[in-house]
Amino acid sequence: MPFNYSTICVVGATSGIGKALAEALINIPSKPTVIAVGRREDRLKALEQASGGKIKGLVADVGSAKKAEVFVQKLIKEFPQTDAIIVNAGVQRHQDWFQPEKIDLESLDQEWEQNYTVPLHISKHILTHFKKQNKGALVTVTSGLAALPKADTANYCATKAAVRSLTLSLRFAYKDTPISIREISPPLVESELHDQQGTTDALSKFWIPLATYIPDVINQLVETDNAEICTQFSAKAYSNFELGKWDAMLNFSPATLKK
Ligand SMILES: NC(=O)c1ccc[n+]([C@@H]2O[C@H](COP(=O)([O-])OP(=O)(O)OC[C@H]3O[C@@H](n4cnc5c(N)ncnc54)[C@H](OP(=O)(O)O)[C@@H]3O)[C@@H](O)[C@H]2O)c1
Repeated sequence: MPFNYSTICVVGATSGIGKALAEALINIPSKPTVIAVGRREDRLKALEQASGGKIKGLVADVGSAKKAEVFVQKLIKEFPQTDAIIVNAGVQRHQDWFQPEKIDLESLDQEWEQNYTVPLHISKHILTHFKKQNKGALVTVTSGLAALPKADTANYCATKAAVRSLTLSLRFAYKDTPISIREISPPLVESELHDQQGTTDALSKFWIPLATYIPDVINQLVETDNAEICTQFSAKAYSNFELGKWDAMLNFSPATLKK
């Protein structure tokens, strides 16, 4: 299905991957309006100005299931023509499971809510909207770590594996419809994701710059039908551990469960 949408919402567009995607998406062939979402209003205003009005900022906090519902209602009210969404907002917490007594479960619960429950709830609300329009694209953002977990970000990896599983199931549910379900699975990419852990300086020696990464994502999104948009490490993890799952799903689901 061509990615020729008119109004694309990027959730989490004030920094990193989401910001760079929003900036690049305004130039794809369908020349969409891009709705950039985040909590930092000053950054959204700067994005709007730099884009000459092609990006519209929408201030919203999507930090909980309830807030996610309020956000989707606001989006549909202000931009009823929204026909694509990239659910990109996410957080990452480090933890040392060899010192379990020090693990801050509250922070991991919050990470789970932000990274899994929020995409789950956004999916329900936005798919209700897309079904009424009989078109739309829902794109989730996972990670190479969804396929190849790392102990020091164990909970993060689990959230991303859960989003991947959800994405596959939604893709199956909508496979014979004009509604497209896809996944962007980044490797380590330049962003502010690691600022809170204080690991940005160390990781910046290895990460892929946004200027290299984003053109590859846009190319796969617009020029290919790739349902899983993977690059470098995430492409390797995908081909080693995930390849074949979709075909197995097609063969596995009993005909009796199909509507
Ligand atoms: N960078 C990587 O190496 C990498 C690798 C694999 C996967 N990913 C995934 O890529 C996605 C984007 O991350 P990034 O690396 O670009 O990180 P980032 O620079 O920290 O950007 C995160 C974005 O999410 C938004 N956000 C976070 N919490 C929010 C909330 N409660 N409400 C609204 N917006 C919220 C932030 O906006 P505000 O703070 O303004 O609200 C920001 O725009 C994440 O899902 C991440 O897990 C990143």
